[in-house]
Amino acid sequence: MEEPEMAPVIDQETTEMVSGHGHILIGGTGRTGTTLLVQILAHLTFDTGYSKDEALRQVDSLSRAGLERSLSDENLPHVIKSPWLADEIAEALERGTRIEAAIIPVRNLFDAAESRRHVNRQAESLGKDPLTHPGTIWKTVVPSEQEKILAEQFYKFLEPLVANNIPLIFLSFPRFTKDPEYFYERLRPLFERHGIPRDKVLEVHAELVDPALITEFSEPGKIPFDQEVSIRHPSSASSDGGDGGASTPGAMETYLSPVSFWVPNFFEASEWIEHVPFAFWLIEAHQPRTLVELGTHGGCSYFSFCQAVKTIGLATRCYAVDHWMGDKHAGFYGEEFFERVRDYNQQYYAAFSRLVRSDFDEAVAHFSDASIDLLHIDGRHFYEDVKHDFETWLPKLSDRAIVLFHDTNVRERNFGVFQFWEELQADFPNFEFLHGHGLGVLGYGSALPQKIRTFLGATADAGLAADVRKHYGRLGSSLKADIIQRQKYAQVTAKLKEQERLAEELKQQAGEAKELNEYAEDLRTLSAKVASLQAQLPTASNEQEPRARELNWHMGELATLRHHVASLETKLSNVYASRSWRMTAPLRAVAQGFKWILGNRRSSE
Ligand SMILES: C[S@@+](CC[C@H](N)C(=O)[O-])C[C@H]1O[C@@H](n2cnc3c(N)ncnc32)[C@H](O)[C@@H]1O
Repeated sequence: MEEPEMAPVIDQETTEMVSGHGHILIGGTGRTGTTLLVQILAHLTFDTGYSKDEALRQVDSLSRAGLERSLSDENLPHVIKSPWLADEIAEALERGTRIEAAIIPVRNLFDAAESRRHVNRQAESLGKDPLTHPGTIWKTVVPSEQEKILAEQFYKFLEPLVANNIPLIFLSFPRFTKDPEYFYERLRPLFERHGIPRDKVLEVHAELVDPALITEFSEPGKIPFDQEVSIRHPSSASSDGGDGGASTPGAMETYLSPVSFWVPNFFEASEWIEHVPFAFWLIEAHQPRTLVELGTHGGCSYFSFCQAVKTIGLATRCYAVDHWMGDKHAGFYGEEFFERVRDYNQQYYAAFSRLVRSDFDEAVAHFSDASIDLLHIDGRHFYEDVKHDFETWLPKLSDRAIVLFHDTNVRERNFGVFQFWEELQADFPNFEFLHGHGLGVLGYGSALPQKIRTFLGATADAGLAADVRKHYGRLGSSLKADIIQRQKYAQVTAKLKEQERLAEELKQQAGEAKELNEYAEDLRTLSAKVASLQAQLPTASNEQEPRARELNWHMGELATLRHHVASLETKLSNVYASRSWRMTAPLRAVAQGFKWILGNRRSSE
């Protein structure tokens, strides 16, 4: 099909208005070839603030990010590139900074975010700071929030440009790296205005662009933004050298669906988090009528089931059974776990979900025989416990029943789930995930839905089973990484709060110290006055009486002040001995480290 003719974005009138006066901005989400653009423009003799050689060298070797400028820098070059322009542009326009045009490379939002997450992971694995490395996740420590933030920043960048009638040149990335004609045509008005011939542009493009350096991210991640996209076969989609396993093309579509890529609404630090993508898929594929969980603790597994039930719109009744006291394996815990689960359940899932606060054995009587389609056994993990729970609840299982067992891949601390799981495997169709401490999926019912039978059938094909495990393992580990980041964020926030509290305490104490100094000064003045009066006493007998009265009055004042000073001195010594005073110095140092979290961080493209 013939390409539609590309209209230049800068029209003649605008060109005359801005020609030669003002800066060319390069902005947007970042991770869209903006550094490469600066390199190309530097080689085409635009003033980028970098020589040709510097433009090639001053780039991070891991992320290929760099060459950024801020609109608040002195001596701005003609071309200014940074994703941070979004935060600076409105103010710069108000200050009267002149802008000739803005070049905005645009790529799929998931890819832009994923590219930053990719740098984040790589930096971490190389022992570098994953949160400050150039090109890493930006303005958040929570990787899954990156798309939202990029979209907001993108809008923030565009709005003032549009309002000020600045010519915008959008470039599709990675297309502009692969298609030199397209690249030239899109930027032609700029090149012509600056007298740069087409041949020169194509020559520099060919010299500098290395398509092998452009990373495109896997198709499955795009699904949350385009539910219609079909899933590419893992071996063709994988960016890790094609270790995609032995399954046939398209096979993964049976085992993954868009719901497998959802992000949980309820984040709970639990080993179970790594199975949430499968939980979403299972609920969609199985559509249980009744779901019972034995062992809910903080709610990680249970609320992932509930999220799927609600979002897909199923008529499933869900029950969470737990005495919410903990056990020898999970640890014993306080009432706050139950309260949090109760409140969350009440807020979001009360329409179809009930918490049964009781011992598993007592709760079993509340359920009819052959009524449970999905049973999740995740209580105490000794062999006898798991066997007992399974056998106690067996009569309640329907002919569509699936039983999930968590921790099938744990051997330490006398966990015995694996042993019981091995016994069951011989008698029922099953599938076992090995990541996240292991999750056994047992096909107990004789009338399981076809999708579930196919899924369980993967066990018989070692290559296919490995593929399924690999994909769910990856999805799970990214959620786990997310949890870790959230925990770090919570710690940093708590420390910042403590710092603020201590700073407030110190401010108060500094005020008291100032007051004390003022009293001490008064005291010194008065003491001097008393001493001088005393010295005058023997020689001033005719004035003795009024002077004695004055002296008495001053002595009284002096006593009052001494009392004040004594009490303030006590306070001051408390200040110096206080924890906050001692902690101040290290906290100030830590405060510098936190600044980037609050938005000052330049996590460049
Ligand atoms: C491993 S935790 C459950 C983890 C949870 N599924 C998750 O997603 O994080 C085990 C839970 O089972 C509960 N539990 C263990 N034995 C129980 C029993 N006999 N009756 C009721 N609750 C029990 C404990 O209170 C604990 O909260």
